[in-house]
Amino acid sequence: MKNEISGFSKLSKTEKIEWITKSFFNNPEKAKKKLSTYWNLNPEIQLKHDEFIENTLSNFYMPLGVAPNFLINNKSYTIPMVIEESSVIAAASNSAKYWLKRGGFHAKVIDIEKIGHIHFTYSGIKKNLVAFFEKNKSILLEKCDEITSNMKIRGGGILSIELNDKTNALDNYFKICVKFNTVDSMGANFINSCLEIIASSMKDLSLKSNLIDGNDLDIIMSILSNYVPNCLVKSWVSCPVKDLGENGQLSPDEFAKKFVQAVKISEIDKYRAVTHNKGIMNGIDSVAIATGNDFRAIESGIHAYASKNGSYEGLTKASIIDNIFTLEITIPLSVGTVGGLTNLHPLVKWSLELLKNPNSKELMKIICVAGLAQNFAAIRSLITSGIQKGHMKMHLLNILNQIGVKKEEKLKAIEYFKNDIVSHKKVEKFIRSL
Ligand code: MEV
Repeated sequence: MKNEISGFSKLSKTEKIEWITKSFFNNPEKAKKKLSTYWNLNPEIQLKHDEFIENTLSNFYMPLGVAPNFLINNKSYTIPMVIEESSVIAAASNSAKYWLKRGGFHAKVIDIEKIGHIHFTYSGIKKNLVAFFEKNKSILLEKCDEITSNMKIRGGGILSIELNDKTNALDNYFKICVKFNTVDSMGANFINSCLEIIASSMKDLSLKSNLIDGNDLDIIMSILSNYVPNCLVKSWVSCPVKDLGENGQLSPDEFAKKFVQAVKISEIDKYRAVTHNKGIMNGIDSVAIATGNDFRAIESGIHAYASKNGSYEGLTKASIIDNIFTLEITIPLSVGTVGGLTNLHPLVKWSLELLKNPNSKELMKIICVAGLAQNFAAIRSLITSGIQKGHMKMHLLNILNQIGVKKEEKLKAIEYFKNDIVSHKKVEKFIRSL
């Protein structure tokens, strides 16, 4: 059987599965069964999931867990997290509990501005382009009225439009920079629709203009930017150094100093910064997924922000000032609580309800706190017991499931490894010994 096909997307789901399993699997029946095992028993729910993307064959499970005991600006939350990595939820829960006794987490939204661009080339005289843009910019905005009207009612819309000369970086390259307030939606569709209307109107106007020759103007593309340095949220924890107990052998003072040192290392060492930020993203991505937000957009924006000073840096800052320890983070975060998957995915709706149906600003704070909590937990373990102790304990279950042990063997292994370091080999040996 050939492994290429044309018209695959037009096949029914059954036909797609038939072709795939016959073409690529040694045991097509078994492969088919595996896919159907993960279908939702309720056909309506399954259809909903089928229609999120193209060529859906089945569902790919990720665990949805919760981290309780978060106090954020004096409000308590249980945070939903979707993640495949063991220890992330345990770490979040530990941080939450630790800071619950020390005033909780604090968070504030600094700004919510989103941004998009029309990238184009223009080979005529620059000052004529500037005159053309100035003359027509209000018309360009009016052309978007039909799609901005609802957003305006909700308190958002287009904030500004300007022309940027980028010819120093690339011959004939200009861009129109449009700033938006998309209120409670992430706003990608809204922004891209506005940009495309502005771009085509600009081209039309240029062809009728007596200021520029429309043939000199070529629209390259119109798209939002996932770099949103003015859609910012900050969160922090803070307490007197003397209150930083419960850290193994370390005194509160030693703990605080070592902590600050660990964070400083992430500011100046790229290798550490990337891992430091990966830990933060464990928290951010998992809440983003649980609440139906685009974690790839969030990831790329945050990593770009981590390089805003010219080199890639850790995203948190830690300090001891007047015997007060503070750990803080400021990140760009474009998220929504309406539109997109938030209205469609049943578990996203569940997660948002668990969070007391936050608006997008509240969700920004919650997600930011989840990132900060991960960072606190990671550094706390790294500078005290080391990361492996907690990690491998959580990983024990994964190893046991991979080996495929019986329930009684699992319980015995969990008991045994309370007092021993976990490794794949050791677990196998222990199970053989039973
Ligand atoms: C593991 O997923 C995340 C950590 O490596 C983060 C860190 O090192 O800060 C523990």
